[in-house]
Amino acid sequence: MSGQRPVGSPFDAPGRPKRESSPGEEVAQRLEGSPPHAPGQGPHTAPVIAIDGPTASGKGTVALRVAEALGWHVLDSGALYRLTALACMRRGATERDPALVARLAGSLDVRFNADIWLDGERVTDAIRTEAVGNLASRVAALPEVRTALLERQRAFRKLPGLVADGRDMGTVVFPDAGLKVFLIASAEARAERRHKQLISKGISANIEDLLRDLQARDARDASRSIAPLAPAADAFELDSSALSIDQTVQQVLRWHGQKTAGRPMDSPDELAG
Ligand code: CDP
Repeated sequence: MSGQRPVGSPFDAPGRPKRESSPGEEVAQRLEGSPPHAPGQGPHTAPVIAIDGPTASGKGTVALRVAEALGWHVLDSGALYRLTALACMRRGATERDPALVARLAGSLDVRFNADIWLDGERVTDAIRTEAVGNLASRVAALPEVRTALLERQRAFRKLPGLVADGRDMGTVVFPDAGLKVFLIASAEARAERRHKQLISKGISANIEDLLRDLQARDARDASRSIAPLAPAADAFELDSSALSIDQTVQQVLRWHGQKTAGRPMDSPDELAG
């Protein structure tokens, strides 16, 4: 897919004014969830768009932008695994003690405002390091940890809708999601993106190390026995290697519009020409 011309056009949906926000604000906004759902309407009636995919495929940015365009809530499920990993590091716990890690996951003392706080300490940037990401991937392979975080994630499902990003949003957490997207990109494109992202946050990084790390994380995420990284049977695959963020977002919105209207879904290859 070349991704040379714009993909689709914005879906005609009530947009929420976009605003510039710091990476910290974005994360907090994504995790903060929302006000309670409208009276008389259960949280499980809220529609969900699930965006899954490997590390650094752009899921988080795309999910946030799609949610902004639709005026929906957003869940960055990876941040919960990262918070669990950070809590483990602080207490010297490792994946070799699943019961302890699950207890930590289930009792995370997290606060979200413009920043993310763990046990009263600001951790907005601390959870984004590669060390935390690597431990997150290891503790995420523990069934006890996934169970401990399941309901926490489902609680983000509120009207008017939720865009959830992660590895198992479409397969385990929200199997009834109205639209499931599996976002991929080549390992090289992802390493480059991750490199830019870290440098822009003032975190030094080496692209070869990042490539090696993300390949190791892909292998671990895809081979674990519980909730492995894999597209749901009814997911639409989108390769963003040669697409801009805008093009990727427009494709997801276009699919959402087609699904909602009951129209046939187009293929990203046709659109990217
Ligand atoms: O930024 P990156 O995509 O590398 O990771 P993330 O989305 O912040 O998630 C951190 C780690 O948590 C991933 O490497 C996964 O192993 C794990 N994870 C998971 O197992 N299931 C999810 N729904 C989200 C994240």
